[in-house]
Amino acid sequence: MKIIKTAVSAALAAAVSFSAQAAEVEVLHWWTSGGEAASAAELKRMLEERGHTWKDFAVAGGGGESAMTVLKTRVVSGNAPTAAQIKGPSIQEWGDEGVLADIDELAEAEGWDDLLPEVVAEAMKYDGHYVAVPVNVHRVNWLWSNPEVFEKAGAELPTTWDEFFVAADKIKAAGFTALAHGGQPWQDATTFEAVALGVGGTDFYTKAFVDLDADALSGETMVKVLETYRKTRQYTDAGAPGRDWNLATAMVINGEAAMQIMGDWAKGEFTAAGKVPGKDYVCSAAPGTLDAFTFNIDSFVMFALDGEDASEGQADLASTILSPAFQEVFNLNKGSIPARLNLPMDKFDDCAKLSGADFVATAETGKLVPSMAHGMSTFSSVQGAIFDVVTEFYNDESISAEAAARKMLSAVQSAQ
Ligand code: BGC
Repeated sequence: MKIIKTAVSAALAAAVSFSAQAAEVEVLHWWTSGGEAASAAELKRMLEERGHTWKDFAVAGGGGESAMTVLKTRVVSGNAPTAAQIKGPSIQEWGDEGVLADIDELAEAEGWDDLLPEVVAEAMKYDGHYVAVPVNVHRVNWLWSNPEVFEKAGAELPTTWDEFFVAADKIKAAGFTALAHGGQPWQDATTFEAVALGVGGTDFYTKAFVDLDADALSGETMVKVLETYRKTRQYTDAGAPGRDWNLATAMVINGEAAMQIMGDWAKGEFTAAGKVPGKDYVCSAAPGTLDAFTFNIDSFVMFALDGEDASEGQADLASTILSPAFQEVFNLNKGSIPARLNLPMDKFDDCAKLSGADFVATAETGKLVPSMAHGMSTFSSVQGAIFDVVTEFYNDESISAEAAARKMLSAVQSAQ
């Protein structure tokens, strides 16, 4: 690991003056939807205010699968960007490759261990050293709905999966799409993990997607989860296959569809469209998951690069990302909550305030769980194995839930 030393004092002074060495800071990310792009623009702006040049390395594709493929090619060819949007256990995989830069000196100088919740700080370290900086905390187990469509259909907002199907039948009968969905593996998995949490509960969820326990992956509860999950497909529209997530959100925004199950980056789309929570749209926990929180922490990992200017650029980028001003403006646009503890939340809406309170509360009750669909709970090979089984099962009615559960176990076992 490369250690950024000389850059730190400059980074600390950077809030008031430009760094000694201006750098071209190339940042890989997949924030290309309306809400995402508005958020990324704030990072570019603040980094440029510190005297650096932003080189945008955006690779479109929700969930980041395409971005990760492109990144691997770049790093293998010895041409790593300054920083990349990498999160969860993947940070450990990249650490094992020996290509990351250690940003401990900045982290110590700024007291990151005290600024960050423990679960966040730990995820940013490789071998005990900070190699990444957190941008936010996204909650994934949300249901986004359009109250006007519910009213027209005479349906009630569901709090359990049984209620979901009652409401969805009414909405469908009234001529609307009940569930806006984009049929892409990561979106399929996002709905699937919400069903797993709602039907199976947090203990089951953790056993299946964190411990990779054989009984949980292939047993009765998983069968029930899979059956419930595939039933949701009947309430999506013919245009769902391949649709981007933000276009599914747009269907809820414009009243074509009643609901979407998606992480709170969807709120960034509502915000970008000028919509107000509680009035134009409603955020509520995905059915059956009120007391739980599936977390997804976006972070930027720094690559080991030659040259002092590169290190200064990285230190300034990391310092900017954790600054209170950035954490506020970025997360107001992105739909997430700040990764830093104790920041004022008065500018945030009720959805974000609820998320903030639940993040703290679930950390205490043990119901704070990492999102499988967003790379927080397993290494990427295992995640990929689960995605394959889930998407195949979702699209092929001839596969029984029992067969899919057995396949899930064998796929996970061979991916480890
Ligand atoms: C990322 C979010 C992003 C979403 C859709 C998630 O995996 O964590 O930041 O908005 O994918 O692209």
